[in-house]
Amino acid sequence: MPAKLLHQTAIVTGAASGIGKAIAFKLMEHGARVYAFDLNGNLLQEYFSSNSDAVPVEIDVTNRQQVNDEINKIISKEKKIDILVNCVGITGITNTKSHLVDIENLKLVFEVNFMSCVYTSQAVIPNMLEHHYGRVLHLASIAGKEGNAGMLAYSASKAALIGMTKVQGSEYAESGITVNAMAPAVIRTPLVDNMPEVQVKYMTDKIPMKRCGTLQEAANLALYIVSPENSFTTGFTFDLTGGRARY
Ligand SMILES: NC(=O)c1ccc[n+]([C@@H]2O[C@H](COP(=O)([O-])OP(=O)(O)OC[C@H]3O[C@@H](n4cnc5c(N)ncnc54)[C@H](O)[C@@H]3O)[C@@H](O)[C@H]2O)c1
Repeated sequence: MPAKLLHQTAIVTGAASGIGKAIAFKLMEHGARVYAFDLNGNLLQEYFSSNSDAVPVEIDVTNRQQVNDEINKIISKEKKIDILVNCVGITGITNTKSHLVDIENLKLVFEVNFMSCVYTSQAVIPNMLEHHYGRVLHLASIAGKEGNAGMLAYSASKAALIGMTKVQGSEYAESGITVNAMAPAVIRTPLVDNMPEVQVKYMTDKIPMKRCGTLQEAANLALYIVSPENSFTTGFTFDLTGGRARY
């Protein structure tokens, strides 16, 4: 197995479950040392504590101080961070029309899905600028491109993330840092399993391939996006929708 990421340091947020976990293991398989960030300390211990290429970090990524402290510790130890993958995400309350959306819940979803990615980017990018290299990947969603009915908070927070990806891609284009996003349709994870079945059906019915994506498909695409090979694409949202988005 070619080790594309040998001697690289990566941070993956939301690494204790679903897509984040699959990406964290894929990066380790390819030689990276992975700092696995998540709220769920038990799951982090279960999956990462016995792996010498992983460092589990129990953290709430909506807490900016905690994010800065943990990332500064990593920089002191490793000197450089090569890869940041932001996989943390929640749907919030779904299957609700916009005029009925609970504002506190909407703010929470923005804090987790968008602001946490601002915090981690701000903490990591200065180090990437210093060593003239970096790969940042934000997990967006088809909901951010198209707007899923019944999912105002989630869709709008993911659209914000796609907007930030374009801004950051432009800003750092000459610095050796690429910033991209990935927009999956539906992949069966706890995030999807916790949604009302009627909302999940709405989303899966829209997939032309008539199936959900797999964790391996997500991890393989992510590996490419954060590898040195992906050197001429930035500010872009990669599609993973089984044909739903053809743009
Ligand atoms: N599964 C899908 O179909 C799908 C589709 C499109 C986009 N996405 C996006 O992909 C990403 C991963 O989704 P998933 O399906 O793997 O979800 P998941 O629920 O399986 O995993 C999310 C992880 O984030 C962690 N987390 C949540 N809030 C946190 C916080 N404040 N601080 C630290 N950790 C926190 C959770 O503990 C969990 O381990 C999300 O951003 C999601 O929006 C998923």
